[in-house]
Amino acid sequence: MSKNFKRHLVTAALPYANGPVHIGHLAGVYVPADIYVRYLRLKGEDVVFICGSDEHGVPITIKARQEKVSPQDIVDKYHGIIKKSFEDFGISFSIYSRTTSKTHYQTASDFFKTLYNRGEFLEKTTSQYYDEEVKQFLADRYITGTCPHCGNDSAYGDQCERCGTSLNATDLIHPRSMLSGSKPVMKDTLHWFLPLDKHEKELRKWILEENKDWKPNVYGQCKSWLDAGLQPRAVSRDLDWGIPVPVEGAEGKVLYVWFDAPIGYISATKELTADWEKYWKREDTRMIHFIGKDNIVFHCIIFPVMLKTHGEYILPDNVPANEFLNLEGDKISTSRNWAVWLHEYLEEFRDKQDVLRYVLCATMPETKDNDFTWKDFQSRNNNELVAVFGNFVNRALVLTQKYFEGRVPERGTMNDFDRQSLEEIGNLKGAVEENLENFRFREALKAGMDVARLGNKYLADTEPWKLIKTDPDRVKTILHISLQIAANLAIILEPFLPFTTARLAEYLNLKKLTWKDAGKTDLLKAGEALKEPGLLFEKIEDEVIEKQLQKLQRSKESRNGSPSVSKPQKPSVSYDDFAKMDIRTGTVLEVIKVPKTDKLMQLKIQTGMDERTVISGIAGFFKPEDLVGKQVCLLANLEPRTIKGITSHGMILLAEDADGKLVLVTPTEGVSNGSEVK
Ligand code: MF3
Ligand code: ZN
Repeated sequence: MSKNFKRHLVTAALPYANGPVHIGHLAGVYVPADIYVRYLRLKGEDVVFICGSDEHGVPITIKARQEKVSPQDIVDKYHGIIKKSFEDFGISFSIYSRTTSKTHYQTASDFFKTLYNRGEFLEKTTSQYYDEEVKQFLADRYITGTCPHCGNDSAYGDQCERCGTSLNATDLIHPRSMLSGSKPVMKDTLHWFLPLDKHEKELRKWILEENKDWKPNVYGQCKSWLDAGLQPRAVSRDLDWGIPVPVEGAEGKVLYVWFDAPIGYISATKELTADWEKYWKREDTRMIHFIGKDNIVFHCIIFPVMLKTHGEYILPDNVPANEFLNLEGDKISTSRNWAVWLHEYLEEFRDKQDVLRYVLCATMPETKDNDFTWKDFQSRNNNELVAVFGNFVNRALVLTQKYFEGRVPERGTMNDFDRQSLEEIGNLKGAVEENLENFRFREALKAGMDVARLGNKYLADTEPWKLIKTDPDRVKTILHISLQIAANLAIILEPFLPFTTARLAEYLNLKKLTWKDAGKTDLLKAGEALKEPGLLFEKIEDEVIEKQLQKLQRSKESRNGSPSVSKPQKPSVSYDDFAKMDIRTGTVLEVIKVPKTDKLMQLKIQTGMDERTVISGIAGFFKPEDLVGKQVCLLANLEPRTIKGITSHGMILLAEDADGKLVLVTPTEGVSNGSEVK
């Protein structure tokens, strides 16, 4: 923290209220934000922690349409689930609001009006797709068609999920309305645009020069947006769900969800305290946005431009965005039900909030995507929480009960090892601080757990159970020191494991402690009575993990079996049409990535007829070493095509699942190259 800040405004991305929260959201945003805020509070800082449900946007209207209820019904349902699950999980928001609140409508409307009245928006008439059957303009997500890049025939108007390209709806070949299935027509419509391009220079200076200390993933993304050049961004939409554009003649238009949602941070602060302006409008407030990587441009570029254009508001001091968490090697996906849902976890793992908090912090995708596996969850619980933290505390407390009737024994003369051990607590506390202040949560947790490791080692080395007969005074000192280490754990690990440390503090009869107390070696006074201890953690058995894996397996199976997720069958073709295709087996000999492209790979294939070059857009799914030596099927007589100066003679066949995951179509046994597939 370079400047002298007096208070903190910490925000966590408002989750969309179209589904419950899962471990990906938690590891990316809410766990780090909560750890950070709890740490600040322990330090006695003035901090507000703001969140709420993001209740507008097209996906909510799509979900409502699917379930045949109103968008309000959808958001009411999920707002309730999300809010409760956060509470039960110990995410300690100062307020959890929602963007359908009255205050928010007023605040977002006023914000727009201020900018509008000052002439800050560009007004532009654009041509948009319109569905004449249902008489509605179509949001990009309501249009499907063929991707011009990869030929996927169910690309969306904003993105092709197969090749990952972002699209404009007008790029689609053969567009269809998802509302009626009809072919949409182009129709003029008026919208308001925020001229981001006008702010490019200030943004470059602010981000690229003044915020060099932002995380590399954040800084890098901002830089590439800025280098590509900013364009005016529409802040209104033709939609019947959202905050009406507060301008005469704008009937049927609402604020773009990404315009209103971040203003939700302001609205929620207003709902929290009449003194909200001090958090939003004073330079000595430090604003931090916790978000996932898909939110970077909105929090680092668009929202700051909104705030600056409005005036009076401060800009974020840091935006510590995380990458994504995968689950058992696969991208988390709500639509495929490939997730661990927080509300289900809380039901199935009663009183084990801290285990999940611990594992998500330890595997947080801070610098790159990371993987959650149930096996890892189990082993971190059993080998770290139980075997290190739980075991140390339990031994210290149980021995104190046994030898000293549960009273903190006197400390006698200390030897060097005692002194070093106590000193180490202070060093580790410093490491936790240093790491937390730089948003390195995994390292911070590791340093905190090192205090428990220290305690464990201290007991293992001093072996008080062996000395109790011969040297009871020494045992007093050993247990006194062990209990001080345990008391330190109750403070230092509080931000990470608040439920466990509360129990530990209770066993130790500790009153409310603050961060300043961490590192002290007299947190417990000799003679004080401790409470009868319970176990802080329990072992998680294989069956429990098996059950979770089976549950995931079931969601995979129901997906494979379910016709609703696979695409409808294409119109019939004659056998003659099929027979025109010359499909052969071949072996991949060499693979290189095509330079300056993300997706393309150049393969050399032995086809039994020849060795030929084939280009394939699969670099996102395979590494060269996954492919070399594999037998594949090849559409051999596809017309040659030249891509990036390389001519491709054929196309290798791949199977693609509903989520766009690609796998090779390979003969189940080796067969000679050039065999016909028919
Ligand atoms: N709902 C968005 C998402 O889940 C995040 C909104 S953050 C806010 O990606 F700033 F707009 F509130
Ligand atoms: Zn595509």
